[in-house]
Amino acid sequence: MAARRILVTGAGGFIGHHLVSYLVDKGHWVRGADVKRPDYSDTLAHDFMVADLRDPANCLAAAEGVDDIYHLAADMGGIGYITGNHAVIARNNTLMNVGMLDAAKQAGVQRFLYSSSACVYPHHLQTSPEVVPLREDDAWPAQPEEGYGLEKLFAEKLCEYYDEDHGIQTRVVRFHNVYGPLGTYDGGREKAPAAMCRKLAKLADGDALEIWGDGQQTRSFMYVDDCVEGIHRIMESGYNKPLNLGTDELVTIDELVDIVAAAAGKTVRKQHDLSKPQGVRGRNSDNSRLREVLGWEPTRSVRDGIVPTYAWIASQVSGRNVAVDRELSVTA
Ligand code: NAD
Ligand code: GDD
Repeated sequence: MAARRILVTGAGGFIGHHLVSYLVDKGHWVRGADVKRPDYSDTLAHDFMVADLRDPANCLAAAEGVDDIYHLAADMGGIGYITGNHAVIARNNTLMNVGMLDAAKQAGVQRFLYSSSACVYPHHLQTSPEVVPLREDDAWPAQPEEGYGLEKLFAEKLCEYYDEDHGIQTRVVRFHNVYGPLGTYDGGREKAPAAMCRKLAKLADGDALEIWGDGQQTRSFMYVDDCVEGIHRIMESGYNKPLNLGTDELVTIDELVDIVAAAAGKTVRKQHDLSKPQGVRGRNSDNSRLREVLGWEPTRSVRDGIVPTYAWIASQVSGRNVAVDRELSVTA
């Protein structure tokens, strides 16, 4: 595959940072853009622009001279953050998405990948823990997550319009809950896997662990290595309609806690708090179309992926510095 000139927005964040490493390893020239540099390890990007992408002039400067854009920048977080900040999230992300797509058009960019979310799927299809896995076509008629999900769904359509009207080759990827080393694990934006790792790392054997909800709600979780490989495969696929990117391994939140506790080598007493945000009751990815298009799907089980994730978060919590190598595995 010929080397390409690539912009990764959100390159100071969790998935964007891993994606930059992956693309540089593949021999591409990569520019990162974000309001901040990565929090936990240096970027491998050839060029890194610190800029606010809500400003269209910054979007254009970032898009100049590249062949492809992987647009991952977003104001985002776990269910606690996205349910408590509808207005600010919808505003910030809409500004960034419109700005980056239009900059791609003005700069003559060939391909544009948009990082959407499973939060676009309708609430009424996610009311039971034994949820029927979500297919791409289920997104319409729409009843997405307020704020964050609605804004993602609109941006998906915007990609379709820019593809049709302006000839930009777009890709739309709906991520299902992604976790791994170098992800946010505190501060209020963390998602369940990282939150559980942080809490477990701080507890003594036999202590009580706070869990939001009754623990019977379900999700599927995707390890970040699978995520970046999938993103790249989807960009290369030529497929321009929305695609799920997740695993179809459904686990309850209580099972997730058991898996993290096993990785930590600790036992805990589960303390459920029904007053905390819980989001949908059940969510899983139907990977039929992903398999059809790519002949590939994420394979890392949550039991396998939690091991390096817990090792990294525990090291952060304890102040030890654990190296994360270029293959994205953790060496203690
Ligand atoms: P992240 O928060 O770690 O990364 C997002 C990055 O965007 C951050 O570094 C942030 O600084 C940057 N950003 C925010 N506002 C900005 C602005 N105004 N200008 C420039 N940069 C700005 O999140 P992530 O987990 O890496 O998610 C990446 C993408 O994937 C996002 O679009 C997110 O919505 C999507 N997504 C992630 C998940 C998941 O489970 N992690 C699930 C579904 C969708
Ligand atoms: N964050 C968090 N922290 N969640 C917890 C905790 C905790 O300490 N304890 C239990 N949970 C439960 C939540 O109540 C929720 O039911 C479930 O774990 C999953 O929570 P999150 O991981 O925060 O979010 P989500 O799966 O509902 O939504 C996330 O994934 C989407 C994509 O699949 C969010 O990150 C969205 O932004 C993302 O688009």
